[in-house]
Amino acid sequence: MPNPFTRVAADDLAAFRTICGDANVLTEQAELDIHGADETEDLCFPPEVVLRPETAKQIQAIMRHCSARRIPVTPRGAGTGLSGGALPVNGGVSLSLAKMNRILEVDTSNLVIVTQPGVITQVLQETVEAQGLYYPPDPASRGSCFIGGNIAECAGGPRALKYGVTKDYVLGVEAVLPDGSLIRWGGKLLKNVTGYNLAQLLVGSEGTLAIVTEITLKLIPLPKERVCLVVPFDDGQAAARALTKIFMARLTPSAAEYLEGAAVRCAEAKFGKSFPQSDAEAHLLLELDGNDRSQLDKDAEVVAEICLGESARDVLLADERQKMADIWEMRRGIGEAVKSVSVYKEEDTVVPRARLPELVGVVRELCRKHKLDAITYGHAGDGNLHVNILKRELSDEEWNERLPGAITELFERVVAMGGALSGEHGIGWVQKRYMPIVLGPSELAIMRRLKHAFDPLGILNPNKVFPDDE
Ligand code: LAC
Ligand code: ZN
Repeated sequence: MPNPFTRVAADDLAAFRTICGDANVLTEQAELDIHGADETEDLCFPPEVVLRPETAKQIQAIMRHCSARRIPVTPRGAGTGLSGGALPVNGGVSLSLAKMNRILEVDTSNLVIVTQPGVITQVLQETVEAQGLYYPPDPASRGSCFIGGNIAECAGGPRALKYGVTKDYVLGVEAVLPDGSLIRWGGKLLKNVTGYNLAQLLVGSEGTLAIVTEITLKLIPLPKERVCLVVPFDDGQAAARALTKIFMARLTPSAAEYLEGAAVRCAEAKFGKSFPQSDAEAHLLLELDGNDRSQLDKDAEVVAEICLGESARDVLLADERQKMADIWEMRRGIGEAVKSVSVYKEEDTVVPRARLPELVGVVRELCRKHKLDAITYGHAGDGNLHVNILKRELSDEEWNERLPGAITELFERVVAMGGALSGEHGIGWVQKRYMPIVLGPSELAIMRRLKHAFDPLGILNPNKVFPDDE
């Protein structure tokens, strides 16, 4: 297929310098390499130039210029994505939102925050927590990812279980369309059915429809109390079954993470810290929160009884701040730790939560069948299991031969269970070929028409999400 895009020329660089200032137009190879990669495998597609606009007006001018010249533009947050959404696979512009990093308002009477996209999620969370408020979505990368990237990917995280994912908090957006026009939809409104919900359409659209320049997010009161339970099991499926029983007892933990022993041991090795009973086959990491301490303690007892009834080895309670922080630090580092073991391919499987024990069994069965090794962990309460398939000692031929069949079969089984391709990492560049396993021609066609309506020239984050079948 002929390349429909124009290469960035000296005149374009001059125009970008006029728009954003010399300091915000980067062409050094080191910067291009940094902006050519994210946290997805070891892929790198360097852009031709990195732009760091400071205002929505500058972004409008950039998009007008790039539309006129047919230069591809790939928006970029902090580069923590796991599906290659920020990779400039056609070169062109990497549009960094790093300089749009101001919290504009914390409105404590309406319980909302208005923010620019380049704010680090944890900074946003700590800012509102200082005022007794809570923004729960907490991807593992919250210490470095941007809230704008969370919007683009509809990030989840452990606390999605009780509190929902990013989409459940987005009330309004301001965004620049590929032709340079500016749209605003919603605001500090909890109810709003004024036409199509453009804010929700942009959430999870992976930077393919528009560039979000301002976000209004709902906040809730910060729960006062928290307890954390680490529950080791000698049988991973028993751990998953225990969780189903916790839900049946009408308890909703604020987090319910499933960690295979192998995943915990990778984190121990990488961070030089120890996790309780890390020799167990699997752990449940459970958190309960609320305002009434005595009720929390009672709930924790019920949870402990259920786990022991499902042959948990033990139930270890962490209710001190420091202990909890240590455990969560290791949990958040597992992704990074598992990846440092070997070349890998990560799948972000998701099934209805009650089918998680079955999914754990399916992963094992497919690993045996395809002679592959996988380490699993994830958000069991959401039925969202991260499956990291490791190359280890396999030759390139063995790896390339076994992997695609195994992944295809994994997704076929996931779909048969009522699941989907990705729970929280998105489709981006690396998962798009599997889309037809989940979505039929009609769903893909209407999605393509939406993309075309927003971006008729196809310059915004091209070659993402849709399979290459046309
Ligand atoms: C996690 C990331 C990888 O749950 O989603 O650690
Ligand atoms: Zn996750």
